[in-house]
Amino acid sequence: MESPSACREINDMAWKVPFVNATRNYQLIKSEIDAAYHDVMGRGDLIMRGHLQRFEEDLAKFVGTRFAIGLNSGYDALHLSLRACGIGPGHEVIVPAHTFVATASAVVNAGATPVLVDVGRDFNIDVDRIDAAISPRTRGILPVHLSGYMADMPRIMKIAKERELVVIEDACQSLGSSINGKGAGSFGRTGCWSFYPFKILGGYGDGGAITTDDPDLAQWVRRMRYNGEDRETGEYHGHGYTCLLDNLQAAFLEVKLRRLPAWILRRKAVAARYRHALSDIPDLLLPHYDRPGFDHVYQNYTVRSRQGDDFSEYLKANGIEVLTQFRKPYYRHAALGLVDRGFPETEALSREVCSLPMNVELTDDEIDTVIDVVRAFYATG
Ligand SMILES: Cc1ncc(COP(=O)(O)O)c(C=O)c1O
Repeated sequence: MESPSACREINDMAWKVPFVNATRNYQLIKSEIDAAYHDVMGRGDLIMRGHLQRFEEDLAKFVGTRFAIGLNSGYDALHLSLRACGIGPGHEVIVPAHTFVATASAVVNAGATPVLVDVGRDFNIDVDRIDAAISPRTRGILPVHLSGYMADMPRIMKIAKERELVVIEDACQSLGSSINGKGAGSFGRTGCWSFYPFKILGGYGDGGAITTDDPDLAQWVRRMRYNGEDRETGEYHGHGYTCLLDNLQAAFLEVKLRRLPAWILRRKAVAARYRHALSDIPDLLLPHYDRPGFDHVYQNYTVRSRQGDDFSEYLKANGIEVLTQFRKPYYRHAALGLVDRGFPETEALSREVCSLPMNVELTDDEIDTVIDVVRAFYATG
């Protein structure tokens, strides 16, 4: 997900509570990050070296798959997954109407057509609507686990099996999440990951990965991420891409992955504090679903406010940096040429979404400041 401060000069001090605080996050782990940097630079290990291999092994173990292949973005993970599964021109892939645009763009850039399906109250694809979207051209389902909470993978896998469709999980926002103990990214043929800096596991630039149990697919992706070349024999196995995860980023991600279980607990504690303080406000829908077996790791804490922009603008005016992704659904951007089949839930939530600050750098005082401002809005509104 884009940070609000991603593309513009911003002084964190302008906000009482910034959405994320990269400087403070770095300070939490400075000695380990600096040591990783010196280790990589001292060895001159820049491309496809030990840190990348170790990070891939650690990631696969964390997710619960046999293989992980580091790439340079979540988009590339989606794009290569689709191609690895033989999806291309003439094929359709089912995607949610509410997601980051890259989910659909990867399908289009693979030569296939995304068929959008509305989402449910948990912001994820509404499984009851998938059947109606399947046509003779459908080859795959690409569910997204938005904000740290997984789509209903047991039901999606069942539909896919019955209809002989491939499943590719867009797990870019949900590393560490699970259903009945089975990890996000371990259900489908592949799991796709983004290590964009403000993800739950974020590097210091772009990064991504594919996880899979399929050795042939893993080998294909390993070759294609490096111009189609088999690094041992020098043979080109197709026209590939250049989309590696850098060894330096892998070294940083290794450090952060070790912290992730503790950081997820902290995110859950922040979410619990918001819930305790805000759940009595009728016009505010909080992201707690209490569905047995479904774990929420709170990559984002996205509330729905009936007051929409009035609410989010009030928070910003009072020093709370919030995100409102996405006020304009991606299928309504004319240049993308996508078909709007009518998505009432996506339309409704798009007017109301507002992500509150949620990160491991937040102090309890800052959480209380957010809570005070939210309550003040509803007291005066
Ligand atoms: C749901 C989802 N899919 C795909 C992506 C694309 O990841 P990246 O920015 O690393 O290409 C993102 C990242 O923002 C995302 O949130």
